[in-house]
Amino acid sequence: MHNDISEILFTEKQLADRVGEIGAAITRDYADAADEGIILISVLRGAAIFMADLARKIELPLEMDYMAISSYGNGAKSSGVVRILKDLSSQIEGRHVIVAEDILDSGLTLTYLLKNLSSRQPASIEVATLLRKKTLAQAKIDCKYIGFECPDEFIVGYGLDYAERYRNLPYIGILKPEIY
Ligand code: XMP
Ligand code: MG
Repeated sequence: MHNDISEILFTEKQLADRVGEIGAAITRDYADAADEGIILISVLRGAAIFMADLARKIELPLEMDYMAISSYGNGAKSSGVVRILKDLSSQIEGRHVIVAEDILDSGLTLTYLLKNLSSRQPASIEVATLLRKKTLAQAKIDCKYIGFECPDEFIVGYGLDYAERYRNLPYIGILKPEIY
């Protein structure tokens, strides 16, 4: 285990198993949409690893697209200020959209994103979040697919960073508070 991690929350195996289950659920749920296919959208950069793994567990025609938004500034708390840094390359009007998120914390990021994407008139829109933090101050968001609930700590690995580090850890763990 990395020296800056106090506890491993989800091992590489647990992550792979759960991502496989979510992929299988999506494959079943969208079986009727097999002709049109779906478009997976991830929010850079944290969700990129989750989406890459998830995409390979979905047995349907699918497209992948990426958005970059900022909500965090440099700190570890959501600011509520969301800016689009990079928009989608594809049109999503009339398409089945699944937004892949790394972690739902305050929910401010997803609230903004869902409002923005819905205004483009997709045929449907759902959220697949790998993690949902157990915190009181969380906006109510309908997430159809949730990987794991996690404690209200600062966590890193499997795409999640602190100051752009630790994204490449194959597991998810709690960052020691003395690091941030
Ligand atoms: P909100 O609060 O808008 O935040 O739901 C969602 C985004 O905040 C980031 N985030 C974290 N990143 N460890 C991280 O590495 C965390 O514990 C954490 N909590 C929130 C993340 O980018 C997510 O998309
Ligand atoms: Mg981050």
